[in-house]
Amino acid sequence: MNDNLTIKELLIKLFSHLNKRRKLELFLHLILMIINSLAEVVSLALIIPFLSVLTNPENLFKIKIVKSFSELLQISSPYELRLPLTILFGSIVIFSGLIRLLNLWLTFKIGGLVGNDLTTKAFKKILFKPYLDHVTSHTSASISTMTQEVSTVVYRVIIPQLQLISSAIISICLITTLIIINWEIAFFAGFLLTFFYFITIKLSKNYVRTLSKQEVFLNKSLIKLIQESLGSIREVILNNSHLYFYRNFQGISFQLESVRARSSFLSTYPRIALEPIGITILAIIAFFSVSQDGIDNALPLIGSLALGIQKLLPLTQKIYEGFIRTRAAKASLITVIDLMEKSISDEDCFVSHSNLLENNSIIFKNVSFNYQNINRTIINSVNFTINQGEKIAIIGTTGSGKSTLVDLLIGLLPPSNGKVLINGKDINKISNKRFLARWRASIAHLPQNIYLADSSIKENIAFGVPPNEIDINRVNEVINRSQLRDFVDSCNNGINSLVGENGVALSGGQRQRIGIARALYKKTNILLLDEATSALDIKTEELIMQNLCSNNTNMTLIIITHRTQNLKYCERILNLNKGEINDYANKTY
Ligand SMILES: Nc1ncnc2c1ncn2[C@@H]1O[C@H](COP(=O)(O)OP(=O)(O)OP(=O)(O)O)[C@@H](O)[C@H]1O
Ligand SMILES: [Mg+2]
Repeated sequence: MNDNLTIKELLIKLFSHLNKRRKLELFLHLILMIINSLAEVVSLALIIPFLSVLTNPENLFKIKIVKSFSELLQISSPYELRLPLTILFGSIVIFSGLIRLLNLWLTFKIGGLVGNDLTTKAFKKILFKPYLDHVTSHTSASISTMTQEVSTVVYRVIIPQLQLISSAIISICLITTLIIINWEIAFFAGFLLTFFYFITIKLSKNYVRTLSKQEVFLNKSLIKLIQESLGSIREVILNNSHLYFYRNFQGISFQLESVRARSSFLSTYPRIALEPIGITILAIIAFFSVSQDGIDNALPLIGSLALGIQKLLPLTQKIYEGFIRTRAAKASLITVIDLMEKSISDEDCFVSHSNLLENNSIIFKNVSFNYQNINRTIINSVNFTINQGEKIAIIGTTGSGKSTLVDLLIGLLPPSNGKVLINGKDINKISNKRFLARWRASIAHLPQNIYLADSSIKENIAFGVPPNEIDINRVNEVINRSQLRDFVDSCNNGINSLVGENGVALSGGQRQRIGIARALYKKTNILLLDEATSALDIKTEELIMQNLCSNNTNMTLIIITHRTQNLKYCERILNLNKGEINDYANKTY
């Protein structure tokens, strides 16, 4: 999206995404930078009188301003100036050091705060994006953006840019001071430094850009590889494919680290290359000045130049680093800004916990659906109505689109054509987003693959509810209804027992029953079961189904099932075949 923008345009965009408080903090930081540069200038300017008072005090009294200043302090002899000047010089140097420390701390502090703003904003944008975006994008890309890219932006864009601005302000002031002290030498030194860094930046431009893209790509690949290997560890062990993943990891990690090493080297080497040149030039200047004017007269000039160059070298290096690091992080900067520009409205973020809808009617009106990345139509102009309290079975061969149909019903996927109407309202209309949130709150959906969090049975049943707000009585009630009582009682810690990462400590049937308990805990009047009992034995399944259907005349039950014995609980059957629906009354009901 922002691929063609220059670094400057990207930085302006990034700045516009900061909140008012951060902008104010940055402004205050800027003021401190200016104070810092003034302190540096004063300490540099003071070096001449300071060195003169040590080497040649009489000369100092020839300067008008010093003379009148001394009279003010009732100092008659130039030698008496030694102590006050030393104290003044020392104090200014200490003051300027303290301000520099404060500046440095502020740079990192603000960088960290901006980083925190960006990651939380990024997480929110990713969390609230439409379901279709989630299924069509890679999780590894999102993880990489939130963890790696944002921190790259903080440590290789924001902090170096702040240091660049601060160093640029101080450098300009220092060079101006040096020009006042001795303009020929100052121009020469300024020109040499600028020329050297300018050429270095120009030469490395394209290379740095390539490194930046490589780094983002390798980062994502690495996270993807970790996810894939650890996510399918059983298959990895069974197929003995450890080495395959290990070698791939080694390869990517090696490339990533060498890319990082190259860009780190590129951003630091010029200073080391420039230092000997600077010192040599200073030595030459010292040689000529001392030969011409003698050591006493030349020392203040040499001293001020030495101090000036010693201050300027690290500053110009920081300016250079600001350019190079930011350029090396351009691809990350683009990724983060692209994400920041994804709009989510308050409506998108609206979540409804209570506010259940009553007496719902579900109408599918000429609904068609196909995934963007495949051409096949999965649902083709489907029409049906489900009223509150009806018990419906959706059947069809595997891959026929049953789960997709349910996703359309929940409003997770928008139809490519047609409308899904709940109580007459089109749930995919933008103006109905709040209504859609209430509709979702009215449904308990048990997907084919249930995800269990690495926490206790209790927290998994009351999923997403803060632990101190969990209604224990309700948890116990749904445990009974989903035939989990015996299992929970057999666990050492009862409902507080841990289930392991994604329920590894449970059997397939136990996981499914926890899923059923979770759906029941939500206490809604629409229950969607997507092959929710497929891993249970016939008897347990029967007990659960009976429990769900008896005394629940007002609850709409929609089950997707491959087992014919479950059909007897349903009054109607929707048979999905090649994208079309055959809707008929069930004779065995
Ligand atoms: N994210 C996706 N991108 C592209 N195609 C998809 C995606 N998810 C599902 N499909 C395709 O949509 C079709 C319907 O899938 P769906 O999961 O709805 O089938 P199903 O009837 O629930 O099957 P099963 O009985 O095996 O659960 C399948 O052919 C599948 O390949
Ligand atoms: Mg399915």
